Amino acid sequence: MKDKKIVLLVLFALSNLSVHGAQDPIELKVSAAKRGLLLGSITLVKHLRFNVDKGQYISNLVNNYDVVVPDVEMKPGHIWRPRNIYNFTDVDWLLGATPDTMG
Ligand SMILES: *[C@@H]1O[C@H](CO)[C@@H](O)[C@H](O)[C@H]1NC(C)=O
Repeated sequence: MKDKKIVLLVLFALSNLSVHGAQDPIELKVSAAKRGLLLGSITLVKHLRFNVDKGQYISNLVNNYDVVVPDVEMKPGHIWRPRNIYNFTDVDWLLGATPDTMG
């Protein structure tokens, strides 16, 4: 099973090279969409909340990915401290965010 995934990944990469040529950037989001796939990335929510790089980071995420997954913000160490007191500030913000409201 693992070998099949590796083979598919290599074939996917090679098919993109043959379509776009070695000189062109590989537009993974476009290639994924053509195959009915969503492309995602992990991110630190604080990079979005506090608009690092004056919007460049958010712009790159929006332009290159369909899905964003929080990095540590959904892990117990981040939301559950101290004991029995929860803080969902970052993930609540992410769930309410859209590309237009970020930054
Ligand atoms: C809750 O989380 C936010 C975002 O990480 C942080 O700024 C805030 O200080 C936290 N609140 C408490 C009471 O720890």
